[in-house]
This record gives sequence, C-alpha cells and structure tokens, in this order.
Amino acid sequence: MNTHWTISVIIISIFTMLLFSSAYAQQGPDYDKSEIAEKVDSVMQKMTLTDKVGEMTQLSIDMISEGEPYNLAEPHRLSEEKLREVLVENRVGSILNVGGHAYTVEHWREIIRQIQEVAMNEKPTGIPVIYGIDTIHGANYTLGSTLFPQQIAIAATWDTQFAKRGAEVGAYETRASYIPWSFSPVLDIGRDARWPRLWETFGEDVHLATEMGVAMVEGYQGDDAADPHHVAATMKHFLGYSLPITGKDRTQAWIPERQLREYVLPTFKAATEAGALTVMINSGEMNGIPVHANKDILTGLLRDEMGFEGIAVSDWEDIIYLQSRHKVAKTHKEAIEMAVNAGVDMSMVPLDLEFPKLLKELVEEGKVPLERIDEAVRRILTVKFKLGLFENPYYEEEGLYDKFGSEEFAKESYNAAAEAVTLLKNSNEILPLSKDSKILVTGPNAHSLTALNGGWSRTWQGTDPQYDTEGKPTILEALRTKLGQSSVSYVEGTAIDSVINIDEAVAAAKNNDFAVVCIGEAPYTEKPGDLRDLWLPQAQRDLVEAIAETGTPVVMVLIEGRPRIVSDIEPKTEAVLMGYLPGDEGGNAIADILLGDANPSGKLPITYPRYPNDLVTYDHNYTDQVDTNFGTDAFNPQWEFGHGLSYTSFEYSNMQLKNSEFDSTGQTTVSIDVTNTGDRSGKEVVQLYVSDLVASITPAVKRLRSFDKIQLDPGETKTVTFTLHPEDLAFVGKDNEWITEAGEFALHIGPITKKIVYKY
Ligand code: BGC
Repeated sequence: MNTHWTISVIIISIFTMLLFSSAYAQQGPDYDKSEIAEKVDSVMQKMTLTDKVGEMTQLSIDMISEGEPYNLAEPHRLSEEKLREVLVENRVGSILNVGGHAYTVEHWREIIRQIQEVAMNEKPTGIPVIYGIDTIHGANYTLGSTLFPQQIAIAATWDTQFAKRGAEVGAYETRASYIPWSFSPVLDIGRDARWPRLWETFGEDVHLATEMGVAMVEGYQGDDAADPHHVAATMKHFLGYSLPITGKDRTQAWIPERQLREYVLPTFKAATEAGALTVMINSGEMNGIPVHANKDILTGLLRDEMGFEGIAVSDWEDIIYLQSRHKVAKTHKEAIEMAVNAGVDMSMVPLDLEFPKLLKELVEEGKVPLERIDEAVRRILTVKFKLGLFENPYYEEEGLYDKFGSEEFAKESYNAAAEAVTLLKNSNEILPLSKDSKILVTGPNAHSLTALNGGWSRTWQGTDPQYDTEGKPTILEALRTKLGQSSVSYVEGTAIDSVINIDEAVAAAKNNDFAVVCIGEAPYTEKPGDLRDLWLPQAQRDLVEAIAETGTPVVMVLIEGRPRIVSDIEPKTEAVLMGYLPGDEGGNAIADILLGDANPSGKLPITYPRYPNDLVTYDHNYTDQVDTNFGTDAFNPQWEFGHGLSYTSFEYSNMQLKNSEFDSTGQTTVSIDVTNTGDRSGKEVVQLYVSDLVASITPAVKRLRSFDKIQLDPGETKTVTFTLHPEDLAFVGKDNEWITEAGEFALHIGPITKKIVYKY
C-alpha cells in the first residue's frame, strides 16, 4: 500500500454511491453498444425459433462426451455424434463444467476447438458456443493452474488488490484453457457460520464484501473481456441464497425486504455497476417463492431497478427442480414457462434436451411471448460479442499464455495466503517459533493439500488427492523444508471424525518443544457440506486436549471453511492461527508465519462464535447483547470480526475530526495516527466503524464503514484519513429506501471513539 506519511483515503465506495439511486444503468468496460447491437440484430434476423431456444440452453459437458453422465469414459473424450446432436440438431448455445475432474490445458484446448469448429462450421447460424466453468479460486478445473486462497481467505487480507489479482490470474489461466466465462464471484453475504458455502463468500460485512466483489469482477473482466486474458464474470447467486433458516444448502430463506436491501443486495448492485456480464440465480427459495420463478426479483429488481443488462443463467437443474423439488409447477413444461417468463435467459439444464423442445412448444402455444425469447437471446448474443467469440472463439497465438502455472503467479497466490492467515491468539508471544525448536506436527490437516484448498479444487468436492498440484507442500512438508527433516516429527493423531493414534501423538509431543496441531474440516461444498453440529469433531478436540496435557505448548492451526466451535480446547492452547482455506501456497505461508519469516496481518472477515447457539454477527442490535443477568454480556464470541494479531504492536492516537457537524451537502474527514510500537515491520488494517446512536429502525451497535491496510516499519507513524459522506451513515428505513437520519453518531477507530452530528 501507500508509503507516504499521510494517506488520504477518499471513500467513494460504490456501495454507498448507489444507496440513493433507485435506478441506474450498467456501466463497466466501455463497449461500443450500438455496434454490438447492430451485430446482434443481424445475427438474430437469421435465427429461427429452434435456433433461439437452443441458444438459451446450457448443457453439461457430460452431454457431448463418451460415456454416461456422471460416469464418463476415461480418458475423457468428446463424442462426435453427441456433439452434432447437441450443437447442430438442437442448436445449443452453451456448454459447462468438467467431466468429474480437472483436465490438462492441452485437453481443454482440444475440446473447445472441437466444440467451436462444429458450432461455427456446421450449425446453421454459425454462432459460437459460450463455454462456462467454475473458476472459483483460480482455474481450478485445469491441472497445473494456480490455486489461490478461497474467497473467505481473500476477504481476511482486507486488501482488495488480492481479490483483483487472484481474479486476473484466474481469468488468464481460464482463457488459456480457451474458456471465456467464469462462474465467480460469489456475492452472497456470509452471515451464517453453519452454511456450507460460507467459505465461498467474502464474509459477514456488507462493505468489505462489496469492495472485494467489485475488485474481483474488475479482475476477471478487465477493460475488455474480449481480450485473451479476461473472461466474463458471474454474480452468484441472485438473490438470498446464503441465509437459509436451517443453515443448510438450498433450503428456504425468509428475508424481509428491508434486510434484503441492506445486507443482501448491495454486493450485487455494486458488481452490476462495475459491469458484471452475467448473473446466476439462487437455487433456493425466498419468502416462499423459488427464486427461479420470481419475476419480482428476476425482472422487477434485477432489470427494471438495477439496470442489469447481461445474461441471467439458472443454476444447476433448477428449472426442473421447480417441479420435482419445490413443487410449484405441475410439470416440467410449466416450470420452464414460469422460469423463462420470470426472467431466466439461459437454462443450466444440464443433462437432457427437453428444455429447448418444451420451450419451443410454449412459444408456439402463446404461453411464453416471442419478445421474451428475443430479449433473452439478445442478451446472450451480446455477451458472446462482448467476449469477442465470433472473431476469436479462442486465441491460439504462440506465447500468449506463457505465464500459465508460473512461479510469478504462484508468488501472488503466496502473498495473498500470507496476508490472509490470521493470528487469533499468541499467549506469551510464543509465536514465532524459534528455528532451532523441535516440533511435532499432528492433526488431520497437517499433511493434506486438499484440506488447504477446499471444495472446487480439481474436482467439485475437492477431496481427491490424486489431482493435487505437483510440488506444492502441505504444512508438514513446508515446515520440514524450512527446519530440516529431523527437527519436525509427524504423527497423524486423528482423521477428521475419528481417532487414529492419539497415543502416539502424545508420546511424540513429550519429545518436542512445541506441538503444531492442524485441525479443522475436510473439503466440501454445497449439499455435501451440510452440518448437524458446529462443534469441531470430538476426535480432534480430544487430540488437542491430550497433547496439551503433556505440557508441551500447543499451537492450533485451523484449516476450515467455516468457524467450527473450539471453545473447550482454546484455553488449552498457547497460540491459534486461522488459515481458512489458503490454497496451494497455504503450506508455505503458514510455515513462514509459524517461524516468523512472515508477519501475520489477516483479520477475521466473520465473527468466530464461542457456542453453537450464539451465532451473532458483529453488527448485531443492542438487544442481542442483553444477557441472563440483564447485563450486556450476551455477545461473547470466541473472536470478533476484524480481530487479528501481529508479531509487532500498533498504537492508535490523535483522532481528529475536520468538522464534528455536517449536513446532506457536506462531508467530514476523520484522521488517526497509527504507530508501529514493536520491533518488526508489519501491516495493520485500520477499521472505521460507525454507531448510529438513535435511529427510527433499531440501529446496529456498529457498522464497518471504511478500512485501509497500511505497512509500518518499527517506530513509524502514519496518519490515515477517511472521508465520511452522508451515505456512510445511512441505513434502509421503514420505506425500504436508504436514508441518513439527523442525529449523533459515534466513530470508532481502534480503541478511540469520537462523536459527530449529522443535520439535515
Ligand atoms: C452451484 C453453482 C455452480 C454451478 C455450476 C451449482 O451447483 O450452485 O455455484 O456455479 O453448480 O457448476
């Protein structure tokens, strides 16, 4: 970041800029709209209804491959016959996904070339296919690509450059695989610790998630998504997916409009404004209506109000589920009618050819207007033109992708991981460990690269180590490389859920100076990640407890996608490092932090709960704090949102307000001095929280309104300045509109608080 003595942070957060605009147009990269519109018109003039409904169909690669869906022939190969049935006979416009596991970059190129040749040379319209894939933390379905930390870890860096660079590299390596469309980022707000996709989000705070989400969209799409190093981004999953009342994947959410607008919508609004080219619909149901059938959300809100112009693609099989799971449609055909009329442009069918056939019948029967079809096709073709697919269905020039899987990219992934890892506890400054220590490394995640990467890593669930990136170390391997084999002993101790050899781990602990216990979760995503119990599995807690009893100091390293409860064992540990899902460089980053070659600077982007029934976010209301003795101690998380220690110390002083009163035409600035009072250089995240002291809607105790990550050398002081606009004090009021009410507000930075007054 900035190295000047004075840093002026002008907060023009897109989130807040949008608060007062009820409707606005999509901006983002500067395309020549009229030129693209003309091209789209000229293609559409030649399209029959069959061409159009085909264009709105997205099928899985399983449908054009040898073998059966979910059980494809190995080694993978396309079926010439199925390819023609799908593309030429049925005019399918989009293909997605991977057949079970990642492919080499060469294989991807061969497949995409084959698909585009058939589409462009044999399909009557010659329209190229738009291939889409889950580029979740890098081009994870291409072997040898760079795997970055997952989104929750990127959020923990509190530095948007990592979101942007990760997406840029992901885009580069996805295009290197000849694929132009990434199903990322996840813009769902991560406010429920139980939810199995929490780690795919940027955590619980709206402001942090919005800043990160915009950076990621910009990273994917660049200035021109048609260039050889960028792809189309997808805002996922519109809308309300992450807050199911059960905490389980794809179960019902009930979200009042006020909360929806305040907590759920801002990330999507900002990403729309940043020009995101596509959106994927939430598979779940909100307020009793499956979102795929909700016209108010998909057309009223997304199009009429937000001005989104890109493609709205369904999620996996979700139109079919309107009938088979949600039970709001009697037949598959009725489900298609509902979804397309509600505003779905493209159906991720993805495993049969019923959709185009039934949709065509619906148009012929007058149940889906041709204008709705034309609108959807126009959006799809517009994105295909914006991606340059008609001119360049892929880029073959020599040397274009030389950086694929390079050291340079690996270093960027390492930097992100090293700034994500969060030091939650460090009693008696036990960390960093001295390099002449003898260390026992134990626990189920000590020697597992799949654990470091989590879901969406080479396979959907990310559990198969046979696809691990070659040469990337686990935590154990990285420590051994740094300290030498003989200084680091290893005993498994437990699997995720069961004891293996705790006794041996205990015996080994007695012969070592420290025990680094690497625990947490195995990879998962979506339904397979549903939980019955947020406690860390008993076997792992027994391991920590047994080792602590030996008297050998325990350093607990958490590798997990959501905060599993550890309140019984935490007091028995000396230090705790939260690694989240740090990706392929996580082993190196964690080893460097344990040994002091990197200074931790990550901060929690979520509240880490202490008990399973106390799942309360940091921006809760005052009533949430009232405890059983009628005091205000009920909010007592294990670690707070924004918490994270360093190997140096920082002091805050001299908080200054430019003016302590301002009105709707003005602004104020608040500045603070931050000094590195320790003896190592380090980074600090300066966080500005605002409390609305009295409001017409119960105010949160505080809300994050801005942040800045700064680097400070020992003894150095920097002044950080934030500018506050009326929008930065706003909330969604009784009329479901953003408002800023007159009154007193408290500003908190570090341990210091000052009041300001806002007047009309
Ligand atoms: C997930 C999406 C993903 C899609 C395609 C769905 O099951 O919910 O996030 O993009 O599959 O793989």
